[in-house]
Amino acid sequence: MFYPFARSLMFACDAEWSHNFALGSLKRLAHTPLAMAWRQQLPSKPVTVAGIAFDNPIGLAAGLDKNADCIDAFGQMGFGFIEVGTVTPRPQAGNDKPRIFRLPQAQAIINRMGFNNKGVDYLVENVKKAQYQGVLGINIGKNKDTPNEQGKDDYVHCMRKVYAHASYITVNISSPNTPGLRELQYGEALDDLLQTVRNEQLDLQAQFDKYVPIFVKIAPDMDETEVQQVALALLRNKMDGAIATNTTLDRTMVQGLKHADEAGGLSGLPVQQKSTQVLQQLRQAVGTDFPLIGVGGIVDGASAQAKLAAGADLLQCYTGFIYRGPRLIAEIIDSL
Ligand SMILES: Cc1cc2nc3c(=O)[nH]c(=O)nc-3n(C[C@H](O)[C@H](O)[C@H](O)COP(=O)(O)O)c2cc1C
Repeated sequence: MFYPFARSLMFACDAEWSHNFALGSLKRLAHTPLAMAWRQQLPSKPVTVAGIAFDNPIGLAAGLDKNADCIDAFGQMGFGFIEVGTVTPRPQAGNDKPRIFRLPQAQAIINRMGFNNKGVDYLVENVKKAQYQGVLGINIGKNKDTPNEQGKDDYVHCMRKVYAHASYITVNISSPNTPGLRELQYGEALDDLLQTVRNEQLDLQAQFDKYVPIFVKIAPDMDETEVQQVALALLRNKMDGAIATNTTLDRTMVQGLKHADEAGGLSGLPVQQKSTQVLQQLRQAVGTDFPLIGVGGIVDGASAQAKLAAGADLLQCYTGFIYRGPRLIAEIIDSL
């Protein structure tokens, strides 16, 4: 009842304004009686992946709570895990506005936010203040003005800052909105980055006496050979898991719709098929035991089931959640 009403108000306003208004409200009201508007007590569907125990397999995807402002509110909604970020070493403004567009006929969003965030120190302070006790992923990236050759320094910087506070860390090399970032998914640049990340993980494990798994988030815009090459690099460098996928640059599924030609990454229903295909190819290439998170176009119980059938151990949603609200989490858990 509550979400359809809130959504109709928000969809009447500018997308980014609504986003900020919603996050501001969730943050302010999480510890007041008004949190009953979104709080849900959902059945437990426990699963252990990468050595982490999850209360249920459906998580919030990165990019919605970039600065970890609303961890408690998202926890109250019943997500089995929350991924915050993408966060960069230094704060950055992101691209010029407008930079988020809704395509309601397609249950889709196009965004070119460009890693707008308040920097890793701010995020860590928020994580420390949160009361949420569940699984927390922290998604890290590089600043726009850091050249790719020095990109790994940004990832290492963020790893050091977040390691003590994360259940797992996601290395995001698949946003289409930071120029050149996706080049890190290929060849020597990928091996070099993953090797650096792995060495840092082992150093931090010794320092903190705690093992924090590393997941690598990849794009859907890869052919099967490229997916296989990424898979081999993940295995070679002993990564703990992967997240498939980020948003797509492909506009085939939304041709002719308003905003379809806006630059940026397309998410929601139109990325579902492509993203599930990449997930399936990745599963084939990494074998049965490698942890995979499926994300991209989960909009109902059936699409969640399709990701699991394609080989996902865990699920995440962003755009479906914008369209359906907390009810989507309950529906997915019911379908399991
Ligand atoms: C507005 C917006 C911002 C996003 N920002 C990030 C981000 O900062 N880091 C990231 O890894 N993914 C980001 N994503 C991608 C989502 O986490 C997810 O991978 C993608 O949208 C596909 O899932 P969906 O179809 O459920 O939205 C963003 C998506 C949207 C719509």
